[in-house]
Amino acid sequence: MPVHLGERSYDVLVGHGARHRLTELLPVGVRRAAVVTQAGIGVDIDPGVEHRTFTIGQGEAAKSLETVEELCRAWAAWGLTRADVVVALGGGVVTDTAGFAAAVYHRGIPVVHVSTTLLGQVDAAIGGKTGVNLPEGKNLVGAFWQPAAVLCDTEVLGGLPPREYRSGLGEMAKYRFLGAEDLLDLPLDERVARCVAIKAEVVGGDEREGGRRAILNYGHTLAHALETAGGYDLRHGEAVAIGLVFAAELALRLGRIDGDRVAEHRATVAAYDLPATVPPGADPAELIGLFARDKKAIDGITFVLDGPRGVEVVRDVPRSTIEATLAACS
Ligand code: GLY
Repeated sequence: MPVHLGERSYDVLVGHGARHRLTELLPVGVRRAAVVTQAGIGVDIDPGVEHRTFTIGQGEAAKSLETVEELCRAWAAWGLTRADVVVALGGGVVTDTAGFAAAVYHRGIPVVHVSTTLLGQVDAAIGGKTGVNLPEGKNLVGAFWQPAAVLCDTEVLGGLPPREYRSGLGEMAKYRFLGAEDLLDLPLDERVARCVAIKAEVVGGDEREGGRRAILNYGHTLAHALETAGGYDLRHGEAVAIGLVFAAELALRLGRIDGDRVAEHRATVAAYDLPATVPPGADPAELIGLFARDKKAIDGITFVLDGPRGVEVVRDVPRSTIEATLAACS
């Protein structure tokens, strides 16, 4: 399925065994491939051209400028050029970091993402957001760098640790409120493809998040705050699930949706066996402070909320309503 972005358009291939079609999706005439991955990904690929593998560290700590420098220096030592390609093989940490390194190396070389996690397939690998963390916060340095192609091989999802898979379901749950309706009864390939299609349509209309793309952050304002505050042992998708229920409760208190719609949010999160309450001990003042620092916050506190026109960005949400909603969600 295509992501329509003019001359930066590309295909996303979703399906069982999709990784075996890597060769046909590499840019025409590519000579060499720098495969960037992590230990333990456990997925073999064959780029069909001369290639070397570059292994980065584990977890969010590996999403750093230091890793980008290490990659770029190793590529330079190998003599990688713009006639070559980077292949990012892994989840969001790999595609975000390798994608950003590809964006800045030689002022930009092509990258193909082979996404190996559910979270990556329905979100991180699609849409060209790349970047790394700073000690001051997540994803604070990055670039929009669209891949040349994305492969979402649903066969490899069977090898994911259960909690990693469930985390992906949190991101998938979000799409229910962005137009996907109920995906639970569909085969996995079709569910992933439906999420990708929604993301592709949104990104195609607003590549650089001048407006509508922000709806893809539904549930993420609280999720990011919980992740930044830290100490709650939450995977990203679990934090998003809590954020979706919180966003629904906030929309209810702002008169944007009714109780049935809130119940729909709660039922969706429960159907995916994901958490729905703010962890005990979370400090509302700290969370609100972090909401105000969110990248989407331009004036006052901004949320992505459901409402009569669907999910949209809502600015200047009153602090007292946020406080009351946090109390109700704890
Ligand atoms: N993950 C949100 C976006 O790609 O815009």
